[in-house]
Amino acid sequence: MGVSRGEFSSRIGFIMAAAGSAVGLGNVWGFPTQTASNGGAAFVLVYLVLAFSLAYPAFMAEILIGRYGQANAVSSMEKMAKKAWQKKFAFLVGFGGIICAALILSFYGILAGWMMSFAVESAALIAGAQGVADWVTGGSVMRNLFFTTLFMFLTVFIIQRGVEDGIEKWSKRLMPMMIGLLILLIVYVLTLEGAQEGLSAYLNPDITRVLEPNLLLSALGQAFFSLSLGTSVMVIYGSYISKRENMVTIGAQVTLIDVSIAFLAGLLIIPSMYVAQAQGVQIFADDGSLLAGPALVFTVLPSLFEGMGNLGLFVGLAFFVLMSIAALTSSISMLEGPVSFVVERHNADRKKATLVIGMVILAISCAIISNIDLMLGLVATISTEYGQPIIAMLCCVYAGWIWQRNSLLEEIQNGYPEVGESFFWKIWPWYIKFVCPVAIGAVFIHSVL
Ligand code: PHE
Repeated sequence: MGVSRGEFSSRIGFIMAAAGSAVGLGNVWGFPTQTASNGGAAFVLVYLVLAFSLAYPAFMAEILIGRYGQANAVSSMEKMAKKAWQKKFAFLVGFGGIICAALILSFYGILAGWMMSFAVESAALIAGAQGVADWVTGGSVMRNLFFTTLFMFLTVFIIQRGVEDGIEKWSKRLMPMMIGLLILLIVYVLTLEGAQEGLSAYLNPDITRVLEPNLLLSALGQAFFSLSLGTSVMVIYGSYISKRENMVTIGAQVTLIDVSIAFLAGLLIIPSMYVAQAQGVQIFADDGSLLAGPALVFTVLPSLFEGMGNLGLFVGLAFFVLMSIAALTSSISMLEGPVSFVVERHNADRKKATLVIGMVILAISCAIISNIDLMLGLVATISTEYGQPIIAMLCCVYAGWIWQRNSLLEEIQNGYPEVGESFFWKIWPWYIKFVCPVAIGAVFIHSVL
């Protein structure tokens, strides 16, 4: 291979980067939206349980494969294959994850562009540039092309700088900023009229709904998307961690941060909706359900900010900057998957490879934009409802059935010598062999049907 690999310089660097990947639009947009359309607190409860009992074990399989392999997703998977068919299987799973990450990035960049455009709108209104504000929220093709391109260039800019100077440095800067903004906004919104009603809709579960199959499956899908599973991203991030680190704990910390931020985002968005209602904004659809999806973020919340007068411009700016940052720390992880593959397997120059791959993905984004009504949903469905669960399931199958148990144990013992006696080691191997593949299979079959 001959290309020197980067490594995260510290534990906190890895945690920020992996949490940065995990925390994205899935947390600050997807989770509150799903909560709103799945009966509030019952969904939150199920999500918490599933994230730790199913997504965390699958997440561990991916980061351990990476740390063992110390290489891009394909080479890492291939390292533990003994037979020719296993190598082929490894290639399929590793490369499938990389393609999946690239496809997700191609539509995610468009959504992130919308977030940036709304941030620019607030800034433009503060500066009194009404014309700019109208253009950036006008939804034209040019607007979409402009902001998607801008967002892709930011992603390329960070990834070109490599692991330590790019991913780690920027995740360490952006994540605290994002969390700070989130907390500030929550504190402010909770003081407003109507917030208490939202809080109780968010926090009092209707226990009877907890076992609804739809709710269970949406929560599991959401947890998998949120932990970036099935996209090679966690394999590659895992490959940049030192062998001295205790992966069981670090993995749990990343999961905890991811889940906590999703929870906090709900604490901002659901009460905000009820505050908006108190100001006369419509928050329920005709069938009585809470508005979700784009209507929530781009109609309900902007109306709320507008109703707050001048202060609302700054609140709106903070909100959409927060969304954009969350998206950026995720998008860099999606680009790192294909880039590390090309750099390591083909001895390519990192800067050039990043630019070329970024432009190819941007071209796909442009194709989506040219027929957005049809293509956006299609690419999102293919990558997140088909690609991610299948690849995540195959990763578990791979770690559970093909990776030799002794070698797997040795890998976890790096940084955690006594893991052999732990509760984790007693149950986790069973989880990835049986429970995770079956559960993911159930989600998959459900979404296909
Ligand atoms: N986890 C990210 C989010 O919640 C999305 C993501 C998916 C990131 C796949 C990387 C890979 O928004």
